[in-house]
Amino acid sequence: MFSAGIVVRLLPGQVPQDFAKAAPAMAETWQVHAVRVTPWRPGYVRVAASAADPLAAPRIPAQRGSGRLLNVAVGVLETGAPWVVDLRQIPHWLIVGATRSGKSTLINALVAGLAPQPVALVGIDCKGGMELSLYEPRLSALATNRTQAVRLLAALVDLTTDRMAVCRTARVRNVWGLPDDERPVPVVVIVDELAELFLIANRGEKDEAHAAGTALIRLAQLGSALGVFLVVAGQRVGSDLGPGVTALRAQLGGRVCHRVADPGTAEMALGDLNPDALKAAQAIRPDQAGTAVLASGDGWERARSHLVSETDAELTASEYAHLTPDLPQLRDAAGAFATGKYAAAATVVIERLDRDDNA
Ligand SMILES: Nc1ncnc2c1ncn2[C@@H]1O[C@H](COP(=O)(O)OP(=O)(O)OP(=O)(O)O)[C@@H](O)[C@H]1O
Ligand SMILES: [Mg+2]
Repeated sequence: MFSAGIVVRLLPGQVPQDFAKAAPAMAETWQVHAVRVTPWRPGYVRVAASAADPLAAPRIPAQRGSGRLLNVAVGVLETGAPWVVDLRQIPHWLIVGATRSGKSTLINALVAGLAPQPVALVGIDCKGGMELSLYEPRLSALATNRTQAVRLLAALVDLTTDRMAVCRTARVRNVWGLPDDERPVPVVVIVDELAELFLIANRGEKDEAHAAGTALIRLAQLGSALGVFLVVAGQRVGSDLGPGVTALRAQLGGRVCHRVADPGTAEMALGDLNPDALKAAQAIRPDQAGTAVLASGDGWERARSHLVSETDAELTASEYAHLTPDLPQLRDAAGAFATGKYAAAATVVIERLDRDDNA
């Protein structure tokens, strides 16, 4: 999709970074949208100029995914290639952005792609379920307030621990090593608005927030080997939400940064991975909703999600409702009227996690 490209041989002493640094100046001189510099072969760089932003009107490929488990094409990259979220490759994701920047739309695209697959989807939406209750028919469990969320997260930690025991007995390192007919269903946990879990008003809430944070970190640490994946979205993901947030971020290897309102959030999402990505994220304008900078340990790219409306996502969720795995231990834990074992689970999990932390 780039309109022109040249290959440049480096002179002795020159490094690709010299060209990368000069890219914005080249774009200005040539009066083009952007210049991107990529290493080509040893001693060469490829300099590509695009006349207009290829993400302004991206082409939507007919195929939404590769058909592989936990692999979804959620949008397009600046190069025109599909933007693929592959949870087998990068299991946990942090999605940030200001209000109306495109976080929920990206989650819609992800849910629409996962709904037809043999996976369990679990929602945590402490804005009263405003965003995720749309998909309820396809969700194995949904928590709509923090008390439910803490119980659900505790049940997820238990499920992960049970799976660990299964793997140990079978002498395999992860669930993928189990025979197909014994492998437990992959569980994708979607959290829309992380801040709702962490912001606190009083001492009672502090314990809940602490329990939620600790359980999320546990899931991120253990989850991918045991078939539990995290997709966490938030408007603000700063350390002001509490020390747990920084620890959680470190475990979420995939980052998506939409337009942000405060530089701190972009920094939190991308800064530790790539300073150039940070600049690209800060240049996203309000009229470019859905545009984002993606980063992982391997580098960064600009991309735009497919505009999957709430209605489309809702329809897909009902269409595949019959595929929803029944996970009673999660459903009951998140239920509004949890009784017996789970009614007191929040307190128990706080005590247990604290005990573990001090051990
Ligand atoms: N990929 C996209 N392409 C085109 N328009 C988009 C895209 N993503 C989002 N939008 C537009 O931006 C609007 C807001 O997006 P969305 O609801 O996903 O934002 P959000 O980040 O979840 O906001 P909030 O924090 O308020 O929940 C959408 O209703 C849509 O009009
Ligand atoms: Mg939203």
